[in-house]
Amino acid sequence: MSDLQRRRLGREGPEVTVLGFGAMELRGTPHRNPRPLDEAVVADVLRTVLDEGVTFIDTSIDYGLSEERIGRHIGARRDEYILASKAGCPLEHLPDAPAGPLAHDYSAGNIRAGVEQSLRRLRTDRLDLLQLHISPSLSTLRRDGVVETLTALRDEGKIRAFGVSSTLPHVDDHLEIGDFSAFQVPFSALERGLETRIELAGRRGFGIIVRGGVAQAGKRAKQTADGRPVTWAGSGLEGLRDGDTEQGFLLRYAITAPGVTTVIVGTADPDHVRDNVRAARRGPLPADVFAEARRRLDAAGLTPQPSPAVG
Ligand SMILES: NC(=O)c1ccc[n+]([C@@H]2O[C@H](COP(=O)([O-])OP(=O)(O)OC[C@H]3O[C@@H](n4cnc5c(N)ncnc54)[C@H](OP(=O)(O)O)[C@@H]3O)[C@@H](O)[C@H]2O)c1
Repeated sequence: MSDLQRRRLGREGPEVTVLGFGAMELRGTPHRNPRPLDEAVVADVLRTVLDEGVTFIDTSIDYGLSEERIGRHIGARRDEYILASKAGCPLEHLPDAPAGPLAHDYSAGNIRAGVEQSLRRLRTDRLDLLQLHISPSLSTLRRDGVVETLTALRDEGKIRAFGVSSTLPHVDDHLEIGDFSAFQVPFSALERGLETRIELAGRRGFGIIVRGGVAQAGKRAKQTADGRPVTWAGSGLEGLRDGDTEQGFLLRYAITAPGVTTVIVGTADPDHVRDNVRAARRGPLPADVFAEARRRLDAAGLTPQPSPAVG
């Protein structure tokens, strides 16, 4: 039994651990951003995730070999995890595609073909959550009848719930239409843009899945409100760590932020899985530390973006 805290993913969703696993690092080759990895290491990573008690796994058709590897190595343990994948993605691997977001197709035909492929690759008969990838606009959603497609898939039992991977500028529309039970959003102490919206969404009963929560272990620079690059070193948080590693403190910050359900951290290293579990087991930050962290981040220019009230 896991001693990781669990939270409900949306008002009627399943309980998931506050630390989830993002399986993008298992994309392998061929991929337009290849990450070669020995198959034995892949197996070790995935078994460690489950053995350490993490119960939520996020993947995507877009993550190369990730779905197949989950199916191959832990498909037989399917009842131990809540499984989320993505929709609208091209069905083929496109190793030569240029950098930047891949073109996505949210037609009923492509979404349905993608779900069937994901179920086969993941060796399962249901996805617990299907998320629209790449934050489609409201006009795309309406033009393609996307919510109708997702509702039909849920009624057929192929998916249990649907959500959206959401970013600005579409996140307010996604929240407003209220059709999605869960939102996957970029967020960390160093990337606080959506912090206010996350809190509002949580109050509305939506599940919030945070990606980028350890800010690539604090090393990749994020931007202040006025466009300055900042890493952990410039965040002002160093003096608050109290025994956490940098990535551990960032993870705990994300877990503590009001509205967050789970933080999917990506890694291809079993030791990093264990590190992340160790940090998550320490639980949310004490209220005074979290308040002080927010004050220091504000002072460093790492602030939430103003949000229209989502009542
Ligand atoms: N919806 C979308 O559009 C979208 C976009 C991007 C990602 N995602 C999802 O979100 C997940 C996480 O996103 P992300 O990869 O951008 O951000 P992240 O989880 O903040 O960062 C992952 C990076 O941090 C490193 N890391 C993890 N734990 C560590 C540890 N304990 N010590 C040192 N380094 C550590 C990993 O390297 P090592 O492998 O070396 O540990 C990896 O390069 C992905 O796996 C994917 O499931 C979704």
